[in-house]
Parts: sequence; structure tokens; C-alpha cells
Amino acid sequence: MIVTTAQLYKVAYKKFAVGAYNINNLEQSMGLFRGCIQSKAPFIIQLSKGARNYTDKRMLEAIIRTAETIFPEAIFAVHLDHGDEATCYDCIDSGFYSSVMIDASHESFEENIAITRRVVDRAHAKGISVEAELGMLGGVEEDIKVDEGHACLTNPEEAVEFVERSGCDSLAAAIGTSHGAYKFKGQQSLRFDVIEAISHKVPGMPIVMHGSSSVPIEEVERINGAGGKLDPSARGVAENEYLPAARLGVTKVNIDTDGRLVWTRVHREFFRDKPADFDFRPPGKIFMQAYADFIAHKNEKLGSAGQLDAVRASL
Ligand code: G3H
Ligand code: 13P
Ligand code: ZN
Repeated sequence: MIVTTAQLYKVAYKKFAVGAYNINNLEQSMGLFRGCIQSKAPFIIQLSKGARNYTDKRMLEAIIRTAETIFPEAIFAVHLDHGDEATCYDCIDSGFYSSVMIDASHESFEENIAITRRVVDRAHAKGISVEAELGMLGGVEEDIKVDEGHACLTNPEEAVEFVERSGCDSLAAAIGTSHGAYKFKGQQSLRFDVIEAISHKVPGMPIVMHGSSSVPIEEVERINGAGGKLDPSARGVAENEYLPAARLGVTKVNIDTDGRLVWTRVHREFFRDKPADFDFRPPGKIFMQAYADFIAHKNEKLGSAGQLDAVRASL
């Protein structure tokens, strides 16, 4: 059942985090639904501009609608990830999305507020909620690359004014993470001080953590053992930091890269071990189960596993 993102946040806020997983194709979708049913977790499916253009946005919508009938017990929201203004309007007008993210964080503070306000007005008129970003994460997202020198953490004082003037419903905050596989070198940790300060200054506002993949070293080693060339010093967010962050107000946790690593590991190992094979269905089947297990594991770490009944009761 597709619900609003706000309905999920209401149950989760300061108790657990809802996993927001990017999907691009059929196999990921099947794995995502299976994994969330397996772990009895509510979830958010998010589509980036790149995902919507990979085949055709209608193809992804059809996959999601069909998955909804194949898995009638699933409870989830559908979200646009890192939208620009035009894509937000397209999603709002489509009537399919529960929420959109307007990402104008690379603009000036004033411009970010102005753009976000316009999107909020259009979205709220249709009962759709809006995630907006303040501060800038490092790493690569869609066509924007932010090097570490230009990344900047969210200023909690500014967050108060931003939320008030923009009218956004959730705040994507820069709290020490970055997108992609190369987040940290060596020791890593979230900026709990910044999370706490935002939560204190803007009570009740769900905080969204982008760049939340953990980039497991075992996964990187297996990929490299099967012919990959990933930097083995790559580190992501420690999974045991998800729940403490959730209890401080991080209510949506965005994970994409880790799922791509699962895909890469399964396919590299499969074709390494069976170099004469060319049917893509056997590795596809392995991937769907591996992805389902990966999602169930993440939901355990986020605290969303086992929350399906609580969410159903709250609807
Ligand atoms: O933050 C970006 C997400 O990982 C989506 O990536 O734009 O390559 O689909 P994408
Ligand atoms: P990762 O690259 O850490 O998976 O982050 C994904 C993300 O933030 C999607 O918006
Ligand atoms: Zn992101």
C-alpha cells in the first residue's frame, strides 16, 4: 500500500529510521519488496532523475504499481530523490508520488529558500510533502560533483530560518556523510553534535541523512577479488550509528551505493566462476535474493524491521 511519507515519519520519529532505497530496475524492485516483507519493515522507494531516465519513468511507475499488488502487505511511500524544480513539478502533477525532494542546496541561502518555497506551495496544494536540503554533502550526485573542500555541514541556526521560511516538511542535512563509495578515509563518524543541535533548534522536524551507505570492506574485497578495482580504503557510515542517529531525529536514511555494491559483487563473482555462461537470469535470481537479504539486514540496523504492524495500526 502506498502511503504518505508523513504517515511513516509520524510513527518513526525519534524511534527508528525509515530506509529510503533507490531503485532503477525490476530486479532491485523485487529484492526491495521481498526484503521489506522478510523483515516486516515500512520503507521509502526513491527514484532519482537518473533512474527516471534510465528506461522510461512510466516503466518504473508500472513496476512499483505491480509490486504493490504482488506484495499486498507492503507499506511504503514513493519519493523523488534530488529533484530540480521542473522534475518536482512533473512528479507532483503525476499524482503518483508521496513526496519530492527539491535539492537547491548548491544555490545561495536566499535562492534555496525561494525555490523550495515555490515547490512547497505546489506540493502542499496536492497533499504531497517536500524534503529540502540545507548544507552541502561531498561526493557525486547526478550531474553535480562536490569536492570535500566545498562540502559544508548544515548550520543549525540557519536551519531554523530555512524551515520556517521555506515551509519544507523534512530537512536533508549535511551531518558528515557524502554520496558514493568514497566517503571517509580511515576512521569515520557522523556529526552527532550537529544532528543534536538541529533537532534541538527545529523540534519535530524529521531529519534526512543522505549518503548513508556503509560501504562494507568485505563487499569491496569480494568485488576486487572478482576483478574489480575499487579503492580498498573506502569507508562509509558505521551501521551501528544508524539507530543512535534515528533517536536524535534522523528519520529517513538514504541508501543507494551499498545496493550497487551487492549487484556488482554478485555479477562479477557469477561470471568469474562461470565464464562460459551468458544467460543473465541465473545471476539475476541470485541478485534478487542477495538484495532482499541486504535490505532486511539494513532494516534491522535502522530499527524499521518489525515496525510494519505499528505503522498499519497508525493508518
Ligand atoms: O544521491 C544520489 C543517488 O545515489 C542516486 O544516484 O543519481 O546516479 O541515480 P543516481
Ligand atoms: P549513498 O551513496 O551513500 O548510498 O547515498 C544515497 C543517497 O543519498 C541517495 O539520495
Ligand atoms: Zn542523496
